[in-house]
Amino acid sequence: MKVIYSLLAFSMLSVSAKANTELPDRQAELPAAKKNSQAEYLVPRDLTTITNDEFGEKVKLGYSLFVNSQQMRGKYVGNNQNCVNCHMEAGRKANSAPLWAAYMAYPAYRKKNDRVNSYADRIQGCFTYSMNGKPPAYDSPELVALSAYAYWLAMGGLMDQHGLENEPVPALDDKQLQIGGKAESFPMPDVIAQALPADKRGSLAGRGYPKIANPELEPSLERGMQVYADNCAACHMKDGQGVSDSDGHSYIPPLWGKNAYNWGAGMHRINTAAYFIYENMPLGKSVQLTVQEAWDVSAYVNSQERPQDPRYRGSLEENRKKYHAHDGFYGKSVNGYTLGSNAFPSAVVK
Ligand code: HEC
Ligand code: HEC
Repeated sequence: MKVIYSLLAFSMLSVSAKANTELPDRQAELPAAKKNSQAEYLVPRDLTTITNDEFGEKVKLGYSLFVNSQQMRGKYVGNNQNCVNCHMEAGRKANSAPLWAAYMAYPAYRKKNDRVNSYADRIQGCFTYSMNGKPPAYDSPELVALSAYAYWLAMGGLMDQHGLENEPVPALDDKQLQIGGKAESFPMPDVIAQALPADKRGSLAGRGYPKIANPELEPSLERGMQVYADNCAACHMKDGQGVSDSDGHSYIPPLWGKNAYNWGAGMHRINTAAYFIYENMPLGKSVQLTVQEAWDVSAYVNSQERPQDPRYRGSLEENRKKYHAHDGFYGKSVNGYTLGSNAFPSAVVK
Protein backbone atom coordinates (compact mmCIF):
# COMPACT_ATOMS: atom_id res chain seq x y z
CA MET A 1 0.00 0.00 0.00
CA LYS A 2 1.25 3.41 -0.89
CA VAL A 3 0.97 6.24 1.58
CA ILE A 4 -1.23 9.06 0.27
CA TYR A 5 -0.43 12.52 1.52
CA SER A 6 -2.68 15.43 2.09
CA LEU A 7 -1.30 17.57 -0.66
CA LEU A 8 -2.18 20.83 0.90
CA ALA A 9 0.06 23.64 -0.13
CA PHE A 10 2.79 23.84 2.40
CA SER A 11 2.94 27.31 3.81
CA MET A 12 6.00 28.29 5.75
CA LEU A 13 5.27 29.78 9.10
CA SER A 14 7.25 32.80 9.97
CA VAL A 15 9.88 31.06 11.99
CA SER A 16 11.54 34.26 12.97
CA ALA A 17 15.08 34.15 14.19
CA LYS A 18 14.65 36.90 16.73
CA ALA A 19 17.89 38.10 18.25
CA ASN A 20 18.52 36.93 21.76
CA THR A 21 18.72 40.36 23.40
CA GLU A 22 15.23 39.88 24.81
CA LEU A 23 14.86 36.19 25.39
CA PRO A 24 11.31 35.10 24.74
CA ASP A 25 9.59 32.88 27.22
CA ARG A 26 10.08 29.54 25.59
CA GLN A 27 9.97 27.65 28.81
CA ALA A 28 6.37 28.64 29.48
CA GLU A 29 4.37 26.22 31.49
CA LEU A 30 2.52 23.51 29.61
CA PRO A 31 -1.11 22.93 30.33
CA ALA A 32 -0.90 20.06 32.84
CA ALA A 33 -3.69 17.50 32.93
CA LYS A 34 -4.44 14.85 35.52
CA LYS A 35 -3.38 11.35 34.60
CA ASN A 36 -6.10 9.22 33.09
CA SER A 37 -5.67 5.61 34.13
CA GLN A 38 -7.64 4.43 31.08
CA ALA A 39 -5.44 6.30 28.63
CA GLU A 40 -3.76 4.45 25.79
CA TYR A 41 -0.42 5.93 24.96
CA LEU A 42 1.19 6.11 21.57
CA VAL A 43 3.96 3.52 21.18
CA PRO A 44 6.88 4.74 19.09
CA ARG A 45 8.64 2.31 16.77
CA ASP A 46 11.77 0.43 17.65
CA LEU A 47 14.99 2.23 16.73
CA THR A 48 16.03 -0.68 14.53
CA THR A 49 13.33 0.33 12.04
CA ILE A 50 15.04 3.64 11.23
CA THR A 51 15.86 3.59 7.52
CA ASN A 52 19.47 3.65 6.32
CA ASP A 53 19.17 6.70 4.14
CA GLU A 54 19.84 10.42 4.43
CA PHE A 55 16.70 11.05 6.45
CA GLY A 56 17.35 8.04 8.70
CA GLU A 57 20.82 9.40 9.46
CA LYS A 58 19.25 12.62 10.76
CA VAL A 59 16.90 10.66 12.98
CA LYS A 60 19.80 8.64 14.37
CA LEU A 61 21.83 11.76 15.02
CA GLY A 62 18.85 13.29 16.83
CA TYR A 63 18.54 10.25 19.06
CA SER A 64 22.24 10.31 19.83
CA LEU A 65 22.23 14.03 20.75
CA PHE A 66 19.17 13.54 22.90
CA VAL A 67 20.58 10.73 25.03
CA ASN A 68 24.16 12.01 25.12
CA SER A 69 23.89 15.76 24.94
CA GLN A 70 27.42 16.15 26.25
CA GLN A 71 28.52 15.80 22.62
CA MET A 72 27.43 19.44 22.43
CA ARG A 73 29.18 20.50 25.64
CA GLY A 74 30.93 23.82 25.33
CA LYS A 75 29.16 24.59 22.09
CA TYR A 76 25.48 24.50 23.00
CA VAL A 77 25.39 22.81 26.39
CA GLY A 78 26.76 24.43 29.55
CA ASN A 79 25.93 21.90 32.28
CA ASN A 80 25.98 18.18 33.01
CA GLN A 81 22.49 17.51 31.72
CA ASN A 82 21.31 15.31 28.91
CA CYS A 83 17.89 15.86 27.36
CA VAL A 84 16.95 12.34 28.41
CA ASN A 85 17.30 13.20 32.12
CA CYS A 86 13.90 14.91 32.13
CA HIS A 87 12.35 13.33 29.03
CA MET A 88 12.93 9.79 30.10
CA GLU A 89 13.51 6.61 28.06
CA ALA A 90 14.98 8.62 25.21
CA GLY A 91 11.90 10.82 25.05
CA ARG A 92 9.53 7.86 24.65
CA LYS A 93 8.05 7.63 28.14
CA ALA A 94 4.47 8.81 28.50
CA ASN A 95 4.01 11.29 31.39
CA SER A 96 7.66 12.30 31.22
CA ALA A 97 7.11 15.01 28.58
CA PRO A 98 7.50 12.55 25.67
CA LEU A 99 8.78 13.90 22.38
CA TRP A 100 6.07 12.27 20.27
CA ALA A 101 3.34 14.17 22.12
CA ALA A 102 5.38 17.37 22.05
CA TYR A 103 6.05 17.17 18.34
CA MET A 104 2.36 17.05 17.49
CA ALA A 105 1.63 20.07 19.72
CA TYR A 106 3.61 22.66 17.72
CA PRO A 107 3.45 25.21 16.22
CA ALA A 108 1.72 26.81 19.19
CA TYR A 109 0.71 30.38 19.70
CA ARG A 110 2.03 32.01 22.85
CA LYS A 111 0.22 35.04 24.13
CA LYS A 112 3.16 36.07 26.22
CA ASN A 113 5.45 36.93 23.33
CA ASP A 114 2.67 37.27 20.76
CA ARG A 115 4.29 34.91 18.39
CA VAL A 116 4.00 31.43 17.04
CA ASN A 117 6.47 28.97 18.51
CA SER A 118 7.59 26.19 16.24
CA TYR A 119 8.86 22.87 17.51
CA ALA A 120 12.41 24.09 16.93
CA ASP A 121 11.70 27.20 19.04
CA ARG A 122 10.64 25.02 21.94
CA ILE A 123 13.80 22.92 21.73
CA GLN A 124 15.83 26.11 21.73
CA GLY A 125 14.17 27.00 25.01
CA CYS A 126 15.40 23.79 26.63
CA PHE A 127 18.95 24.58 25.46
CA THR A 128 18.85 28.07 26.95
CA TYR A 129 17.39 27.07 30.29
CA SER A 130 17.44 23.34 31.06
CA MET A 131 20.85 22.83 29.46
CA ASN A 132 22.14 26.24 30.61
CA GLY A 133 23.57 26.75 27.15
CA LYS A 134 23.18 28.56 23.84
CA PRO A 135 20.62 27.26 21.39
CA PRO A 136 21.86 25.92 18.05
CA ALA A 137 20.62 27.94 15.04
CA TYR A 138 17.41 26.94 13.29
CA ASP A 139 19.09 25.41 10.31
CA SER A 140 21.92 23.78 12.27
CA PRO A 141 22.37 20.03 11.83
CA GLU A 142 21.69 19.61 15.58
CA LEU A 143 18.29 21.28 15.59
CA VAL A 144 17.25 19.56 12.39
CA ALA A 145 18.32 16.19 13.80
CA LEU A 146 16.53 16.67 17.13
CA SER A 147 13.37 17.66 15.25
CA ALA A 148 13.74 14.68 12.90
CA TYR A 149 13.98 12.29 15.85
CA ALA A 150 10.82 13.66 17.50
CA TYR A 151 8.93 13.58 14.20
CA TRP A 152 10.02 10.00 13.61
CA LEU A 153 8.83 8.88 17.06
CA ALA A 154 5.45 10.58 16.59
CA MET A 155 4.79 9.61 13.00
CA GLY A 156 5.87 5.97 13.34
CA GLY A 157 3.60 5.49 16.36
CA LEU A 158 0.66 7.14 14.60
CA MET A 159 1.19 5.09 11.43
CA ASP A 160 1.13 1.88 13.47
CA GLN A 161 -2.15 2.96 15.06
CA HIS A 162 -3.69 3.52 11.63
CA GLY A 163 -2.80 0.36 9.77
CA LEU A 164 0.37 1.67 8.13
CA GLU A 165 2.77 -0.46 10.14
CA ASN A 166 4.53 -1.78 7.06
CA GLU A 167 5.34 1.64 5.67
CA PRO A 168 8.52 3.48 6.56
CA VAL A 169 8.11 6.91 8.14
CA PRO A 170 8.10 9.33 5.17
CA ALA A 171 11.11 11.64 4.93
CA LEU A 172 10.47 15.35 5.43
CA ASP A 173 12.68 18.23 4.42
CA ASP A 174 14.55 20.22 7.05
CA LYS A 175 12.20 23.20 7.08
CA GLN A 176 9.06 21.13 7.48
CA LEU A 177 10.67 19.12 10.25
CA GLN A 178 11.28 22.15 12.43
CA ILE A 179 7.73 23.48 12.42
CA GLY A 180 5.98 20.59 14.13
CA GLY A 181 3.01 18.34 13.40
CA LYS A 182 0.21 20.70 14.44
CA ALA A 183 0.45 22.87 11.33
CA GLU A 184 -2.74 22.61 9.22
CA SER A 185 -0.58 21.97 6.21
CA PHE A 186 1.61 19.37 7.85
CA PRO A 187 2.19 16.52 5.40
CA MET A 188 0.84 13.28 6.82
CA PRO A 189 -0.96 10.22 5.51
CA ASP A 190 -4.65 10.99 4.87
CA VAL A 191 -5.99 8.45 7.32
CA ILE A 192 -4.05 10.09 10.14
CA ALA A 193 -4.93 13.62 9.09
CA GLN A 194 -8.61 12.65 9.16
CA ALA A 195 -8.47 10.86 12.50
CA LEU A 196 -6.38 13.57 14.09
CA PRO A 197 -7.29 17.08 12.91
CA ALA A 198 -4.81 19.82 13.79
CA ASP A 199 -6.76 21.05 16.82
CA LYS A 200 -6.64 17.61 18.46
CA ARG A 201 -2.94 16.98 18.00
CA GLY A 202 -1.74 19.05 20.94
CA SER A 203 -3.37 16.90 23.57
CA LEU A 204 -2.19 13.34 22.96
CA ALA A 205 -2.54 11.26 26.14
CA GLY A 206 0.68 11.25 28.16
CA ARG A 207 1.90 14.73 27.12
CA GLY A 208 3.91 16.68 29.68
CA TYR A 209 4.01 15.67 33.32
CA PRO A 210 0.68 14.76 34.88
CA LYS A 211 -0.82 17.21 37.32
CA ILE A 212 -1.14 16.06 40.92
CA ALA A 213 -3.43 17.38 43.66
CA ASN A 214 -2.42 20.49 45.55
CA PRO A 215 -0.62 19.74 48.79
CA GLU A 216 -2.70 19.69 51.94
CA LEU A 217 0.00 21.53 53.83
CA GLU A 218 2.11 24.36 52.50
CA PRO A 219 5.29 22.69 51.10
CA SER A 220 7.95 22.60 53.80
CA LEU A 221 11.69 22.73 53.20
CA GLU A 222 12.33 20.93 56.46
CA ARG A 223 10.15 17.98 55.59
CA GLY A 224 11.47 18.12 52.03
CA MET A 225 15.03 17.76 53.28
CA GLN A 226 14.02 14.60 55.12
CA VAL A 227 12.22 13.17 52.07
CA TYR A 228 15.37 13.93 50.07
CA ALA A 229 17.65 12.20 52.56
CA ASP A 230 15.40 9.13 52.66
CA ASN A 231 14.57 8.75 48.97
CA CYS A 232 16.91 10.71 46.74
CA ALA A 233 20.34 11.24 48.27
CA ALA A 234 21.44 7.66 47.57
CA CYS A 235 21.52 8.55 43.88
CA HIS A 236 21.58 12.33 43.55
CA MET A 237 23.95 12.54 46.56
CA LYS A 238 23.55 14.60 49.70
CA ASP A 239 25.01 17.67 48.00
CA GLY A 240 22.64 17.30 45.02
CA GLN A 241 25.49 16.88 42.54
CA GLY A 242 24.57 13.43 41.27
CA VAL A 243 27.21 11.27 39.63
CA SER A 244 29.14 12.38 36.54
CA ASP A 245 32.35 11.23 34.89
CA SER A 246 35.24 13.62 34.37
CA ASP A 247 33.88 14.71 30.95
CA GLY A 248 30.69 15.93 32.56
CA HIS A 249 28.53 13.09 31.32
CA SER A 250 26.12 12.46 34.15
CA TYR A 251 24.85 9.03 35.03
CA ILE A 252 22.73 10.64 37.67
CA PRO A 253 22.02 14.30 36.99
CA PRO A 254 22.85 17.09 39.44
CA LEU A 255 19.70 18.73 40.82
CA TRP A 256 21.28 22.03 41.85
CA GLY A 257 24.62 23.83 41.71
CA LYS A 258 26.63 24.99 38.72
CA ASN A 259 25.94 21.93 36.56
CA ALA A 260 22.18 21.81 37.01
CA TYR A 261 19.27 23.42 35.13
CA ASN A 262 19.22 27.18 35.55
CA TRP A 263 16.75 29.62 37.15
CA GLY A 264 14.83 30.03 33.90
CA ALA A 265 14.17 26.30 33.38
CA GLY A 266 10.67 24.85 33.75
CA MET A 267 11.95 22.35 36.32
CA HIS A 268 12.68 25.14 38.81
CA ARG A 269 8.95 25.72 39.21
CA ILE A 270 7.81 23.84 42.29
CA ASN A 271 4.65 22.55 40.68
CA THR A 272 6.38 21.31 37.49
CA ALA A 273 9.10 19.49 39.45
CA ALA A 274 6.51 18.06 41.87
CA TYR A 275 4.58 16.61 38.93
CA PHE A 276 7.75 15.18 37.39
CA ILE A 277 9.02 13.75 40.68
CA TYR A 278 5.73 12.21 41.77
CA GLU A 279 5.40 10.37 38.47
CA ASN A 280 9.02 9.48 37.72
CA MET A 281 11.15 9.42 40.88
CA PRO A 282 12.78 7.66 42.68
CA LEU A 283 14.01 6.14 39.44
CA GLY A 284 12.57 2.74 38.71
CA LYS A 285 10.01 2.96 41.53
CA SER A 286 7.69 5.61 40.21
CA VAL A 287 4.68 6.77 42.17
CA GLN A 288 6.06 5.83 45.52
CA LEU A 289 6.04 9.17 47.28
CA THR A 290 2.87 10.66 48.68
CA VAL A 291 1.57 13.80 47.01
CA GLN A 292 2.68 15.84 50.01
CA GLU A 293 6.19 14.36 49.90
CA ALA A 294 6.49 15.18 46.19
CA TRP A 295 5.64 18.85 46.87
CA ASP A 296 7.94 19.02 49.89
CA VAL A 297 10.96 17.51 48.15
CA SER A 298 10.36 19.60 45.03
CA ALA A 299 10.41 22.74 47.17
CA TYR A 300 13.59 21.56 48.89
CA VAL A 301 15.42 20.85 45.60
CA ASN A 302 14.26 24.15 44.11
CA SER A 303 15.31 26.20 47.12
CA GLN A 304 18.96 25.54 46.26
CA GLU A 305 21.19 27.87 44.27
CA ARG A 306 21.74 27.15 40.56
CA PRO A 307 22.91 28.98 37.41
CA GLN A 308 21.42 32.43 36.83
CA ASP A 309 18.33 33.02 34.73
CA PRO A 310 19.81 34.14 31.37
CA ARG A 311 17.19 36.92 31.21
CA TYR A 312 18.74 38.55 34.28
CA ARG A 313 19.91 42.08 33.47
CA GLY A 314 21.38 43.18 36.80
CA SER A 315 18.30 43.43 39.00
CA LEU A 316 17.03 40.32 40.69
CA GLU A 317 13.84 42.08 41.73
CA GLU A 318 13.05 43.27 38.22
CA ASN A 319 13.73 39.87 36.73
CA ARG A 320 11.59 38.18 39.35
CA LYS A 321 8.68 40.51 38.63
CA LYS A 322 8.99 40.19 34.89
CA TYR A 323 9.46 36.44 34.49
CA HIS A 324 8.80 34.72 37.78
CA ALA A 325 5.12 35.19 38.52
CA HIS A 326 4.88 31.49 39.30
CA ASP A 327 5.60 28.93 41.93
CA GLY A 328 9.33 29.22 42.61
CA PHE A 329 11.95 30.58 44.98
CA TYR A 330 13.85 32.83 42.58
CA GLY A 331 14.31 36.26 44.14
CA LYS A 332 12.74 35.09 47.39
CA SER A 333 14.38 34.82 50.75
CA VAL A 334 14.93 31.48 52.48
CA ASN A 335 16.55 31.47 55.92
CA GLY A 336 17.94 34.93 55.29
CA TYR A 337 19.41 34.11 51.85
CA THR A 338 17.85 35.45 48.64
CA LEU A 339 17.88 32.82 45.92
CA GLY A 340 19.46 33.96 42.69
CA SER A 341 21.57 36.58 44.49
CA ASN A 342 24.69 34.45 44.23
CA ALA A 343 23.77 32.30 41.25
CA PHE A 344 26.32 30.44 39.14
CA PRO A 345 27.04 31.85 35.66
CA SER A 346 24.49 31.16 32.95
CA ALA A 347 25.44 30.08 29.44
CA VAL A 348 29.10 29.44 30.12
CA VAL A 349 29.58 28.09 26.62
CA LYS A 350 31.88 29.47 23.94
C1 HEC B 1 16.18 19.75 33.61
C2 HEC B 1 15.13 19.08 32.88
C3 HEC B 1 15.08 19.19 31.36
C4 HEC B 1 16.07 18.94 30.45
C5 HEC B 1 17.50 18.52 30.75
C6 HEC B 1 15.49 19.15 29.15
N1 HEC B 1 14.18 19.49 29.28
FE1 HEC B 1 12.85 19.75 27.77
N2 HEC B 1 11.42 20.27 29.13
C7 HEC B 1 11.58 20.31 30.49
C8 HEC B 1 10.40 20.86 31.12
C9 HEC B 1 10.20 21.06 32.60
C10 HEC B 1 9.49 21.15 30.08
C11 HEC B 1 8.13 21.79 30.22
C12 HEC B 1 7.21 20.85 30.90
C13 HEC B 1 6.01 21.52 31.51
O1 HEC B 1 5.90 22.75 31.58
O2 HEC B 1 5.17 20.73 31.98
C14 HEC B 1 10.16 20.75 28.84
C15 HEC B 1 9.58 20.83 27.57
C16 HEC B 1 10.18 20.36 26.42
C17 HEC B 1 9.52 20.24 25.15
C18 HEC B 1 8.05 20.57 24.90
C19 HEC B 1 7.18 19.50 25.46
C20 HEC B 1 5.71 19.66 25.10
O3 HEC B 1 4.95 18.71 25.29
O4 HEC B 1 5.35 20.74 24.64
C21 HEC B 1 10.44 19.76 24.25
C22 HEC B 1 10.21 19.46 22.81
C23 HEC B 1 11.68 19.60 24.96
N3 HEC B 1 11.49 19.95 26.28
C24 HEC B 1 12.86 19.15 24.39
C25 HEC B 1 14.08 19.07 25.07
C26 HEC B 1 15.36 18.82 24.43
C27 HEC B 1 15.58 18.59 22.96
C28 HEC B 1 16.30 18.83 25.43
C29 HEC B 1 17.79 18.71 25.31
C30 HEC B 1 18.43 19.68 24.40
C31 HEC B 1 15.59 19.05 26.69
N4 HEC B 1 14.27 19.21 26.42
C32 HEC B 1 16.19 19.04 27.95
C33 HEC B 1 12.68 19.87 31.17
C34 HEC B 1 13.89 19.54 30.61
C1 HEC C 1 17.92 5.02 41.80
C2 HEC C 1 18.54 6.30 41.60
C3 HEC C 1 17.64 7.55 41.76
C4 HEC C 1 16.88 7.89 42.83
C5 HEC C 1 16.70 7.14 44.15
C6 HEC C 1 16.29 9.17 42.51
N1 HEC C 1 16.68 9.57 41.28
FE1 HEC C 1 16.13 11.30 40.33
N2 HEC C 1 17.09 10.69 38.67
C7 HEC C 1 17.86 9.56 38.56
C8 HEC C 1 18.33 9.44 37.18
C9 HEC C 1 19.23 8.35 36.64
C10 HEC C 1 17.78 10.53 36.49
C11 HEC C 1 17.90 10.80 35.01
C12 HEC C 1 16.88 9.96 34.30
C13 HEC C 1 17.29 9.52 32.92
O1 HEC C 1 18.25 10.04 32.36
O2 HEC C 1 16.62 8.60 32.41
C14 HEC C 1 17.05 11.32 37.46
C15 HEC C 1 16.41 12.52 37.17
C16 HEC C 1 15.85 13.36 38.11
C17 HEC C 1 15.36 14.69 37.88
C18 HEC C 1 15.40 15.39 36.54
C19 HEC C 1 16.02 16.73 36.64
C20 HEC C 1 17.40 16.91 36.13
O3 HEC C 1 17.96 17.91 36.58
O4 HEC C 1 17.92 16.17 35.30
C21 HEC C 1 14.86 15.17 39.06
C22 HEC C 1 14.24 16.53 39.34
C23 HEC C 1 15.02 14.12 40.03
N3 HEC C 1 15.62 13.04 39.44
C24 HEC C 1 14.64 14.22 41.35
C25 HEC C 1 14.67 13.15 42.24
C26 HEC C 1 14.09 13.20 43.56
C27 HEC C 1 13.44 14.42 44.18
C28 HEC C 1 14.29 11.97 44.12
C29 HEC C 1 13.82 11.49 45.44
C30 HEC C 1 12.39 11.53 45.67
C31 HEC C 1 15.02 11.16 43.14
N4 HEC C 1 15.21 11.91 42.01
C32 HEC C 1 15.44 9.87 43.35
C33 HEC C 1 18.14 8.66 39.55
C34 HEC C 1 17.51 8.61 40.78
